Amino acid sequence: MSTLAVFDAKPYDIAFLKANASAEHSLVFHEFRLSPETAALAKGADAVCVFVSDRADRCCLELLRGVGVRHVALRCAGFNNVDLVAAKELGLTVTRVPAYSPHAVAEHALALLLTLNRKIHRAHNRVRELNFSLSGLVGFDLCGKTAGILGTGKIGRITAQILRGFGVRVLAYDVFRDEAWAAANGVSYAGLEEILAQADIVSLHTPLTPETHHLIDERTLALIKPGVFLVNTSRGKLIDTTALIKALKTGHVGGVALDVYEEEAGVFYEDLSGELLQDDELSRLLTFPNVLITSHQAFLTHEALTQIAQVTLENFRLLQAGQPFLEGTQLA
Ligand code: NAI
Repeated sequence: MSTLAVFDAKPYDIAFLKANASAEHSLVFHEFRLSPETAALAKGADAVCVFVSDRADRCCLELLRGVGVRHVALRCAGFNNVDLVAAKELGLTVTRVPAYSPHAVAEHALALLLTLNRKIHRAHNRVRELNFSLSGLVGFDLCGKTAGILGTGKIGRITAQILRGFGVRVLAYDVFRDEAWAAANGVSYAGLEEILAQADIVSLHTPLTPETHHLIDERTLALIKPGVFLVNTSRGKLIDTTALIKALKTGHVGGVALDVYEEEAGVFYEDLSGELLQDDELSRLLTFPNVLITSHQAFLTHEALTQIAQVTLENFRLLQAGQPFLEGTQLA
């Protein structure tokens, strides 16, 4: 029997991992996140399964190695929270789930955009209180507008294609251009500055890397078309929150929909409804009527959770069997 210690386990993680586990897997669930303080609790496990807020830095990885862990299985696509260089040096294998329903994330980006633009969240609250007034609920037609898709990987492409279905002109930016895909879908690649100047909607779909850290900051916000709607379902640190708040206060940015936030670790996924929110910038963002925030839930569909569980558990089984991992999943 091989053991997988699952950190930051939420009820949906537990349900989907249990539903897809086989008899040879022993699963141990920890509600708390992986950190140097909690790594020792992986003792006895062959592998740990972690998510976006777990901190697999060098210190933590050394501690995991020390208690006999051989495999770090990320149950997400992004891996900016794992020190891959340290993992390699320590002989730890790292895998991820590179694609789990990119449709789930792209569709959530659209859900955010439509909700924010047509003010559905505000209308819903009003109607529940028998306030049937329409004042302040004016949106705009998506049809005929220009969207900038930053990052045309799996999720960015689907987002672009959905937007094309709404009759939106799509400009795309990526370090690797796929001109054949763009031509087939009526999308045009352009430079970042050109897109920022032209787009009515900008949707972020690049991974978080040193190059994309604060891709949206004071400098790029100054170049952005006034009134722009900004959507981020990728990683919080793509946006400099301080600069964003400034641009919201002047009205330069027309609307912001976020599924991710720069300092989300320890806040998103938690029920803090009975507590005092300590993050002043998040508190400020929540006061803007034109800011819509969800708690990193773009992936949260039945299909995505099933794929995450299946790929994670299959890689765990392959490691035990000494066989190669599923294609494209191994990072170290
Ligand atoms: P992907 O790897 O398929 O695509 C990323 C694209 O970004 C690639 O085409 C790449 O060339 C491009 N890129 C990389 N660096 C760039 C740069 N400096 N400038 C411009 N383009 C650059 O990734 P995928 O599956 O589309 O996911 C994108 C991101 O979405 C992930 O990295 C992750 O952070 C986030 N994500 C968020 C989820 C959520 O629940 N909110 C769930 C899954 C992913």
